[in-house]
Amino acid sequence: MAPPAHASFPHTLLQWYGRHKRDLPWRDTTDPYRIWLSEVILQQTRVAQGLPYYQKFVDTYPTVQQLAAAPQDEVLRLWQGLGYYSRARNMHHTAKIVTDDLGGHFPNNYAGLLRLKGVGSYTAAAIAAFAFKEQVAVLDGNVFRVLARVFGLSDDIAAPASRKVFQQLADTLVPADAPDRYNQAIMEFGAIQCTPVMPDCLFCPLQQSCFAFTHGMVQELPVKAKAKAARPRYFHYLVLEHAGRFYMRKRLEGDIWQGLYDFYLYESAHKDLPLEALVPELQHAGLTLDTAQLQPPAKDYRHLLSHQRITARFYRIHLKAPLPEKVLQEARLALYSVKEIEELPKPILINSYLQNAKILVYL
Ligand code: ADE
Repeated sequence: MAPPAHASFPHTLLQWYGRHKRDLPWRDTTDPYRIWLSEVILQQTRVAQGLPYYQKFVDTYPTVQQLAAAPQDEVLRLWQGLGYYSRARNMHHTAKIVTDDLGGHFPNNYAGLLRLKGVGSYTAAAIAAFAFKEQVAVLDGNVFRVLARVFGLSDDIAAPASRKVFQQLADTLVPADAPDRYNQAIMEFGAIQCTPVMPDCLFCPLQQSCFAFTHGMVQELPVKAKAKAARPRYFHYLVLEHAGRFYMRKRLEGDIWQGLYDFYLYESAHKDLPLEALVPELQHAGLTLDTAQLQPPAKDYRHLLSHQRITARFYRIHLKAPLPEKVLQEARLALYSVKEIEELPKPILINSYLQNAKILVYL
């Protein structure tokens, strides 16, 4: 039997949306390219932080062809700060596929969109609904929360199996005449009204029909299993500098930050590393230094990823002579001027260090 809120739910949401929606640039377009860009960015961050990124991408690459033609370093540099860089690499790859193989046109339906690399069910549904008015339900964290509360679904939203349960219900709610507005509305409702911690139940138009509200379970729903603790990793970076330029390298496949640039890295199982422990590492890099030339690092830099907790320390070392060619090749290092470093895509933690150490100065 359909829950009591079922019948009036879409209509109530649409009314609420008319009054409360934010004016956002990707809501003024039916261009699938721009909608895709916005949704990929918004999977990574909130609207306020995502807006400047969206604007930068749209200004730099007004069309999918222009994104496809861009160098990867430039795309990653624009993405810098959003994290999860495989999203940016997949996006770039997909732009090339759409440009080269699909005549510059995105597939115009959910099933076709789903076949694109990096386009999962969320993004496919969003593009299909917003650009092509297909009657599919978009499911993101906001939608999970709203549905769990209003309809009293207690399935663990972190469990992949729950997706089906939510999708089944969500698909029954999308009105045929407004799939685009309805999907925007439910996401907006989750973002503004039915927020995770302090939802505005007092002024909620669904209050009387909401399962969670009427059962005193707003704080209990949605049910979400705790994520496993992130694995700690300790990075000791040797910031090797010669004549005002710095040795950096592009990170390879198979670890975090693929395609981004960092310094010579010594990873240790320990956060605290006596400076003497770095000497053999430096020798390995072709450097004979004594510990007197090493300054203890000023501070720890921390960065939390979904499954890893990175702590990094930086040891700045001024070299009198450049590193030998053999060492450069083995460690895949190259010298970069400060101007060049500015342009390179870098993990945020590296960028923060460069700014704190006054190597990069933004006016
Ligand atoms: N979050 C994800 N997609 C969104 C959209 N289209 N508008 C606002 N917030 C969003």
